[in-house]
Amino acid sequence: MDKTLCGQPELPADQFLYERRGPWPQPSPSYPLANAPEILNVPPVETMIWTQAIGSRYFQTEIGFPGAAAANAVVGGQLEIPSDAEFVRMMTNSVFARSLRPVAGSNTWISNFHAMELMEGDTVPGTFVRRVSCVFERNAGQFSCTRIDVANPTGRPLEVSPSDPAWNLAKAYALQGASYVGMFVVHPALHFPMDTVNAITKTAVPRNHPLFQLLHPHSAYALAVNNAVLETEDGVLSSNPQGTWFDPLTATGLVIKRLFGAGYAGLPNPPGLYPQYDYMNPWMDGSLPYGHCLRLYFDAFLGFCETVEKEILGACPNDIYVERWANYISAQLHGFPDGKAIFQPGVLTRALAVYMWDVTVSHAADHYSYTHDVTPAKPPTPPVVGTTLAAWKFLRLRVPPPQHLSDGAAVKLVGDVCPPDDLYRAEMTQELFLKPATIYPNLVQTTYAFTSLPLLQAQEKFHADLRLVAAKVAAVMPNFMPLEVSDTMKDYSRTISASVQY
Ligand SMILES: [Fe+2]
Repeated sequence: MDKTLCGQPELPADQFLYERRGPWPQPSPSYPLANAPEILNVPPVETMIWTQAIGSRYFQTEIGFPGAAAANAVVGGQLEIPSDAEFVRMMTNSVFARSLRPVAGSNTWISNFHAMELMEGDTVPGTFVRRVSCVFERNAGQFSCTRIDVANPTGRPLEVSPSDPAWNLAKAYALQGASYVGMFVVHPALHFPMDTVNAITKTAVPRNHPLFQLLHPHSAYALAVNNAVLETEDGVLSSNPQGTWFDPLTATGLVIKRLFGAGYAGLPNPPGLYPQYDYMNPWMDGSLPYGHCLRLYFDAFLGFCETVEKEILGACPNDIYVERWANYISAQLHGFPDGKAIFQPGVLTRALAVYMWDVTVSHAADHYSYTHDVTPAKPPTPPVVGTTLAAWKFLRLRVPPPQHLSDGAAVKLVGDVCPPDDLYRAEMTQELFLKPATIYPNLVQTTYAFTSLPLLQAQEKFHADLRLVAAKVAAVMPNFMPLEVSDTMKDYSRTISASVQY
């Protein structure tokens, strides 16, 4: 690293991207204590680039996709409620695996969608939500679902088994719970806390610093994307879902944001189920294929960031910009190391790796899996246009949850619980906001403005390591998001992105 940075704690403002007047986190206007800090003043140039690269795609989709969305909604309504095999596949071998927790000392695993109760009583008229949990047994690596517990407001949960008439309806509620907890408890914790790191890096670290050079390529689009999600009425957090024509959700934006709080501040009850966000310890359970793949990628980031840490701290062991960066961020973000802890061995490496891995692999893989795994493995009728059918996400349910084991016996098809307009909205939202739409350069094509030979060599090694990991991942989980295009997958928009851009 350029040693002149080390001796210059007060570089002139023009050595910073936004002359030290850049974006900075503020408390969330909606839920200041429960939700992650937000960047409310996005630099105009970042908004312009977002409009050009991403916003324009939304407008084109709103004009060009409604006919296909409607046709897909008709096909989706005719789908059967997922079979038990398809249900277990989606719940355990997709992004939904993030909710699976083992019960100590047994082969039982539970996916608990307790946070659904945060929306109860505040849903779009005629739609229903309910707190549910799914109980799985794992034998020789294979999962089976033995029971779905559906909460009962007046007593003990209804324990629904596969042979009960209420089973299909219970599965629909379980998939709804998985969708909402996945999209609005787990996924926001990948998006929004990282804006604090993004903004503070851009504002407080000089452009010639390796820390800036490392993180900047992974920080494009995200501030504007997240601001658009959180603060505009044109997305899926609208105060008038029906008025948008494409919002498929079962509650208003302000109600949905309660779930964000479960993923950031956590929920006190039941203890341990929704812990407070912890920056340095993201989920990557290596005993599940999805978590194992995330972990394989994380190790590649660790190796790269270790070299960058050596370069920075080798030149300047108490680097003032690193110290300030950590102090500024740790004041805002649960679990981020402060200006003392950041200099403990390996801490800077991990803090950098978590950011880079989160905004690339961990974030993008969720979108990919939610689009490509939470859908029929082989639809009886393929989508008319678009990538996959959205019907099995069960974003709205128009039949109340079962209160008795005999309830819902007539529920056979998706259309029995969800009318065409709700499904049309789900197809629109999937095309607009859920499917991955990666912009060039993707992760493995990202280059860094390093001006040191060891760091340029580290970049080459990182790209090679990513390709090695991709080969291992393909063996563990062939359906995991691809790193790059291949002979069998030529769609660049499905490759792992370099930043949060959807
Ligand atoms: Fe996202």
